[in-house]
Amino acid sequence: MKDILLTGIKPTGTPHIANYFGAILPALDLAKNEEQCFYFIADYHALNTIKNAEEMKIHTYEVAATWLACGLDPDKIIFYRQSDIPEVFELNWILCNVTPKGMMNRAHAYKAQVQKNEEEGLDVDAGINMGLYNYPILMTADILLFNTNLVPVGQDQKQHIEMAKEIARYFNNKYGETFTIPKEMIREEVKTICGIDGRKMSKSYGNAIELFASPEVLKKKIYSVVTDSSLPTDPKPTSHMLFELYKLFANSQEVEEMTKRFNQGIGWGEVKKIVFEKANEYLTPLREKYISILANKEEIDKILKSGAEKARIIAKETICRVRKAIGV
Ligand code: TRP
Repeated sequence: MKDILLTGIKPTGTPHIANYFGAILPALDLAKNEEQCFYFIADYHALNTIKNAEEMKIHTYEVAATWLACGLDPDKIIFYRQSDIPEVFELNWILCNVTPKGMMNRAHAYKAQVQKNEEEGLDVDAGINMGLYNYPILMTADILLFNTNLVPVGQDQKQHIEMAKEIARYFNNKYGETFTIPKEMIREEVKTICGIDGRKMSKSYGNAIELFASPEVLKKKIYSVVTDSSLPTDPKPTSHMLFELYKLFANSQEVEEMTKRFNQGIGWGEVKKIVFEKANEYLTPLREKYISILANKEEIDKILKSGAEKARIIAKETICRVRKAIGV
């Protein structure tokens, strides 16, 4: 039996290279093993943070173009917009009715907001809408609708998958075996991908190198990586993030060569030049593909629509089974 993999990608912000090496590439690699894969754009999850139509549209196209440029093959992976699958929202409502409110009270994102309100002396519910509160239930609907058994996600999503399992069990206990119980597949943290200030690369730290940055911006970012004042003849530590960065883009022979040069002594200016050139050589074809895909939004729409059609065949079967189970 093939595994059924499913994961949602929130259309928020432009991806950086840690997203690429840490999440996008591993997800595309997984799909090579012939599993059935559903990768979708979770626009209705993003609605919680994006409250502007133009922004929503742009981000959706950007994230679709990103995955396509990075090699997602829509003939192998069912690639769609969440909002194109009405069955998700029907199931969402049904699941609301077996989900204990207390479980949602424990959700990390919700609790964090409540705590923040308390600390700031505000009403506990200030700024919290029902979209945030019900977020884990919508995610459960995404997962259960497609008989998913594996959900590749980052560590931050672990609790959501635990909740999906629990909600599936509640339903099965009440109405008989209906849903497959999913399992999380937690991505390993890629600790070595640091941002230009040496901290973990993250959009919120403002230290990220965008995947599709122009060569000029890429150069500026790489040249601004923090180094020390050692002399060009001094050996350099291979634990430095410029070396780690180089390792992402270079082949093993080039890495070996660079190790030697680091040990012998090399100027930071020279290192930055080499790292930039290697990264740019790697990223240029991706960037060009991304730009050309993004320029043809009708084609993106076509791909996503066709993915939604394929997905709905299974979604409808599940909803049919669920309706029968609940008696509507
Ligand atoms: N909540 C996920 C995130 O923020 C995105 C997501 C939505 C998702 N639905 C999903 C992930 C279903 C896995 C499965 O990254």
